[in-house]
Amino acid sequence: MALLEARNIVKCYTAVPAVNGVTFSMEPGEVLGCLGPNGSGKSTIVRMLTGLIQPTSGEVLSGGANIQKNLIGYREQLGYVPEEQELYPFLSGWEYLELVGTLRGLPRAALAKRIGAMLDLFSLSPAKYVAIGTYSKGMRQRILLIAALLHDPTLLIFDEPLSGLDVTSALIAKNLIKLLSERGKAVFYCSHVLEVVEKVCTRVMILRKGKMLAHAASAEIQERAGQSSLENSFVHLVEERDAARTAQDILSVMRAA
Ligand SMILES: Nc1ncnc2c1ncn2[C@@H]1O[C@H](COP(=O)(O)OP(=O)(O)OP(=O)(O)O)[C@@H](O)[C@H]1O
Ligand SMILES: [Mg+2]
Repeated sequence: MALLEARNIVKCYTAVPAVNGVTFSMEPGEVLGCLGPNGSGKSTIVRMLTGLIQPTSGEVLSGGANIQKNLIGYREQLGYVPEEQELYPFLSGWEYLELVGTLRGLPRAALAKRIGAMLDLFSLSPAKYVAIGTYSKGMRQRILLIAALLHDPTLLIFDEPLSGLDVTSALIAKNLIKLLSERGKAVFYCSHVLEVVEKVCTRVMILRKGKMLAHAASAEIQERAGQSSLENSFVHLVEERDAARTAQDILSVMRAA
């Protein structure tokens, strides 16, 4: 049975649906990339998959059961990196992770060991007792990643997980996603960074105005779109605008009297 399944999910905040009939399922070991322009519904899908909001219609299932029936049990096996960096600014990195790990039910001694090792591996040890409020964007993002991984979840939902990460940290995260998939975890991966999606995702879905335009392996999407890269396929499928032309037009407006 699928680790995660969305059946015809719809979300309406207003009369215009933000997500309009999206269906997919994820098996262990799968890394499903979710691409789409700004406002196409990616984070809304993520919020439905984590159970933070409920679909207006349709269902999100895990192991064949609606996640809303046992949200606490479902979340125990879920690791989530949200789009917004909502962290307690007055807690230190260590205290925040201790709080998350305790809420996740990890035993105290094992938790302390795991937090220490993770902070070290993510190069955060020098700042571990410093308030998160003073952290840089990339440091906060690394804390969010550790918080999602700490309890060794089966299902990972990432909304732009590499946002703000430096080159080395991003490379580590990319390698880690591959290893997680090899260990049978399922990863739902939202991003605008097509080069990463192309490398780490086993399948890709492309959204436009809340609807799924494509859902296949990256190579298959390229073949069907008749394009040589995922980036070109994306532009071909999604964007009506010529990027070079629009940049010229913006410059003209800046110079206009
Ligand atoms: N809480 C909300 N209330 C009202 N409308 C919302 C809310 N959240 C999202 N929307 C709308 O739903 C649509 C999809 O937004 P969403 O955040 O899912 O897009 P996204 O694909 O994640 O975009 P981005 O690439 O900018 O992160 C947008 O039109 C947005 O204005
Ligand atoms: Mg978003």
